[in-house]
Amino acid sequence: MRTPWDIGIRPSEITPEPIWRSRRRWLQQAALGSLALGATGLARAADADGPAGPALEAPRDAHWSTDEPPNTWRDITTYNNFYEFGTDKGDPAKYAGRMRLEPWTVRIDGAVRKPLTLDLDALRRLAPLEERVYRLRCVEAWSMVVPWTGYSLSHLLKQVEPTADARYVVFTTALQPEAMPGVAQGVLDWPYVEGLRLDEAMHPLALLTFGVYGRALPPQNGAPLRVIVPWKYGFKSAKSLVGIRLQAEPPVTSWMRAAPREYGFYANVNPAVPHPRWSQETEHRIGTGWFSPRLPTQPFNGYGDAVAGLYQGMDLARNF
Ligand code: MTE
Repeated sequence: MRTPWDIGIRPSEITPEPIWRSRRRWLQQAALGSLALGATGLARAADADGPAGPALEAPRDAHWSTDEPPNTWRDITTYNNFYEFGTDKGDPAKYAGRMRLEPWTVRIDGAVRKPLTLDLDALRRLAPLEERVYRLRCVEAWSMVVPWTGYSLSHLLKQVEPTADARYVVFTTALQPEAMPGVAQGVLDWPYVEGLRLDEAMHPLALLTFGVYGRALPPQNGAPLRVIVPWKYGFKSAKSLVGIRLQAEPPVTSWMRAAPREYGFYANVNPAVPHPRWSQETEHRIGTGWFSPRLPTQPFNGYGDAVAGLYQGMDLARNF
């Protein structure tokens, strides 16, 4: 990805002011020693609630990473959407620890020559792990910057050898009603199902994700593995993945079933297409204080150079 430095523009000239200010604040903190530069070159938050859990070190992939300062571990792990555990932002951190994480397998089947069932170890070892610092834009018009650890989902999809019928990829996530207090609330049809077109899923930005901040994913962020699709609204990034199915027809996803007028299959971040109940033109960056100015939302969440070509000739207002 081209950075402002490649084209000779200083970040202060193009970066929205709140980001620029928060980056300066971040650098000042780093200079004060409250943040330590890790082996990967990414600053690790060292506050009291700093990164915890098994280490999952991986070199940072500068090509696909944003230079924006990442949100803190605390922001990323306490302000969550994971409706299986309740609709409150704090519910996943409170309850997701009840999820059974072992044994864990992912079944990949459908229109493939080699269906596979892989355990977590086999999945982690399938390709070298990288750290990718991505923007995450939620459909609720807030955003974060998150240092994920994983590898391009394409590595896994190639293993199963998709057939000519494989045009869509369907993700199914864990359903453990006894551990998930949100399931009985009936907000969505469970299990949570999401989907991508195969060419979207094969794009290198689509990340099969095992960690955050160099640690194994905490339960509330989708342990033990999830998908991250940074140019789409956050709900496309299914957590706690158990199944991947390739098929000819587009799936009806959980959100499309719940509110078809509000949530389409594509869900590309698009400031020009409002949600029926609110604008998508701007976003609140979590951690910058509720009174700081909102940021302009970028088409495809700022990843347009890399992904706009996937949608050439499509009416993105109709295919929302
Ligand atoms: N995956 C499952 N299984 N259940 C969910 O409710 N919520 C989605 C997505 N993945 C969700 C899910 C939404 S709306 C968002 S914004 C992101 O997860 C939030 O990811 P984060 O909590 O790691 O930031």
